[in-house]
Amino acid sequence: MSVAKPLPHDSAPLHVTGAARYVDDIPMPAGTLHLAFGLSDIAAGRLLSLDTGPVRAAPGVVAVITAADLLFENDVSPSSHDEPLLAEEAISYLGQPLFIVVATSHLSARRAARIAQVETEAEDPILTVEEALARNSRFEEGPRVYGRGDVAAAIEGAAHRLTGRLEIGGQEHFYLEGQAAAALPQDNGDMVVMSSTQHPTEIQHKVAEAIGVPMHGVRVETRRMGGGFGGKESQGNALAVACAVAARATGRPCKMRYDRDDDMVITGKRHDFRIEYEVGFDDNGVIAGIDFTHYTRCGWAQDLSLPVADRAMLHADNAYFLPAVRITSHRLKTNTQSATAFRGFGGPQGMLGIERVMDHIATRLVKDPVAVRRCNFYGGGGTEPRNLTPYGQQVTDFILPDLMSRLEETAGYTSRRAAVASWNAENAILKKGIALTPVKFGISFTLTHLNQAGALVHVYQDGSIHLNHGGTEMGQGLFQKVAQVAATRFGVDISAVRITATDTGKVPNTSATAASSGSDLNGMAVQNACDTIRTRLADLMAGRHQTLPSEVIFKDGKVHVGSATYSFAEVVAEAYVARISLSATGFYKTPDLAWDRIKGEGRPFFYFAYGAAVTEVVIDTLTGENRILRADILHDAGASLNPEIDIGQIEGGYVQGAGWLTTEELVWDDKGRLRTHAPSTYKIPGCCDRPDIFNVALWDAPNNEATVYRSKAVGEPPLMLGISAWSALCDAVQSCGETYADLQAPATAEEILAAVGRAGGGGAD
Ligand code: MTE
Ligand code: MOS
Repeated sequence: MSVAKPLPHDSAPLHVTGAARYVDDIPMPAGTLHLAFGLSDIAAGRLLSLDTGPVRAAPGVVAVITAADLLFENDVSPSSHDEPLLAEEAISYLGQPLFIVVATSHLSARRAARIAQVETEAEDPILTVEEALARNSRFEEGPRVYGRGDVAAAIEGAAHRLTGRLEIGGQEHFYLEGQAAAALPQDNGDMVVMSSTQHPTEIQHKVAEAIGVPMHGVRVETRRMGGGFGGKESQGNALAVACAVAARATGRPCKMRYDRDDDMVITGKRHDFRIEYEVGFDDNGVIAGIDFTHYTRCGWAQDLSLPVADRAMLHADNAYFLPAVRITSHRLKTNTQSATAFRGFGGPQGMLGIERVMDHIATRLVKDPVAVRRCNFYGGGGTEPRNLTPYGQQVTDFILPDLMSRLEETAGYTSRRAAVASWNAENAILKKGIALTPVKFGISFTLTHLNQAGALVHVYQDGSIHLNHGGTEMGQGLFQKVAQVAATRFGVDISAVRITATDTGKVPNTSATAASSGSDLNGMAVQNACDTIRTRLADLMAGRHQTLPSEVIFKDGKVHVGSATYSFAEVVAEAYVARISLSATGFYKTPDLAWDRIKGEGRPFFYFAYGAAVTEVVIDTLTGENRILRADILHDAGASLNPEIDIGQIEGGYVQGAGWLTTEELVWDDKGRLRTHAPSTYKIPGCCDRPDIFNVALWDAPNNEATVYRSKAVGEPPLMLGISAWSALCDAVQSCGETYADLQAPATAEEILAAVGRAGGGGAD
């Protein structure tokens, strides 16, 4: 059986030899043109005039396209039609595309993009939370509020109360392959687009609108991305649409890729958040009532900000039962890049809020933070129902108490906590910290109708299998996992299954590969397609042997019927001659979802994925420099479809989460210019930033819900295991003094140094 085997990523040899083909590697026809955007250099204001004469005269330039040249829709928004491809009059952020240069080479397009004569009238940009609140600049009329109970009374009546505020920085996706697209004009005005996108159907939709054809006139193909992380759910639209518009205007193939600086300046990032809290709790740290306020800067266009902010609210509880709770969410419109999906989709920000509260309570009560976490867990065995989330979904399979116990044991948490304390008692300058934090993450798109998928499976006469589904491959190993499902259904070796590029001409109306649902949705759709074909084959062979179809067994590349054995290829060849269709579509929709996002009530998630991590760190109290010494992770991937790939996801997710909360800092100046727009100023984790000791294990118990082979989604949840690194840094800083250290995120060296000062520590005294 192919499922559950630790097979390597299907493209691993191509990745490591450099042979894997990305959009920019695809050989293009002669005459291909290259595109670059001319960008706004003010964050807010009006475009008064745009003289592209000098651009047109520059070497290699074939055409220049402005908003006035767009014949159909000027919109690349994935949600609310508020995102022009090219600015018309209003300028909304620094880096906004104003015009497209079409040239004979990538470099000549980029050079010419800088020499337009642009006249603008600048206005005061709205950059900060305060500015947005002062000018009531927001998406949706007012804040969204979810919750239950009399929060004020619960906090008032509690033995202890705390308030706090946490700034949480955003995050650049830093996919290694930047945004890229290519468009090839076809007969009859049709267009073929190759795009580095998590959402080929959205590209098809936006391109069709922009060139004025029905969706059937556009076919989009995506073989793979060199990373997406949410940054290619919507942010690839602009490039694909620009290429299609230019290809249509010139009749020539067009391609575009962002230079890294442009990519960082133009595209949206993870939403930064400010979270304020007020909490009431008892002597053990058990929360009676909590009031959260989320402020998030969404940037200039709506993009996916509403569901991102919703998901932050839906993870404000993380693993904890909150008897009385209110979450107020302000979605602020600012003159910055349009913040977008990023691994966890708001969940990490919401979760960081409550994890901070747990640490804050523990510090106040001078208790082990793990004990405080445990006594707030869902379940808890009391008389009242402690398994109801603030939005009314039951938590039915809360495995975290057991999972945490096992991790505490394997990681030696208790003895290491004591060892850290004695280290800190003896060392004045280098201080250590340790933390154990849990993750509970809801799986499903909260926009319920997106929870559907399609597949197309062909079996050829020789028994080889051609596999297609709506999911996209961004390095997460989805294609391999789904191929393992197909191989298992037919009982053949994985080598019999050919993985092919995602193609809107094969599977239509797909959802983005996002919300970690790729394998849940597409795995099931493929299983259904395979089973349709397998049933036809079984019926044929059962008929021949006068037995029941259930007696026909597909296993080890063979088909067994009673005592007879055929090769899979023989059965397929017979079916072909018997004129039986060897091709089928498959479809799947997630059952039992019901969610009202306005009221904040229902069952938005099919199930939860769980995990926990213990991280130990050391900080230098004189400089703020820090290291992760060790991380131990136990993560729930259900009955894993592929343990090697899942462990890779967990390792990568943890490191990416820790990077977000430590070194990755986005800085805008007071003009709205992103100052950290290259790896020289924006520090993602490198190989040597991963923990020196890194133990990752799978919980490995089947999903309670009937998912594909009882597996669980694993793409996003592990990112939030990185919270333990930040919490460990808080612990280290806290050892420097009595005052609450109030570490913010990201905990850069500068922030750690400042927090050591706030805690009352002075380094070597
Ligand atoms: N892993 C790699 N290597 N590259 C990526 O771009 N994206 C993450 C996660 N893991 C990503 C990744 C995000 S944001 C999501 S939603 C899931 O993969 C999407 O894939 P899945 O649904 O198949 O897990
Ligand atoms: Mo992932 S943020 O849902 O693309």
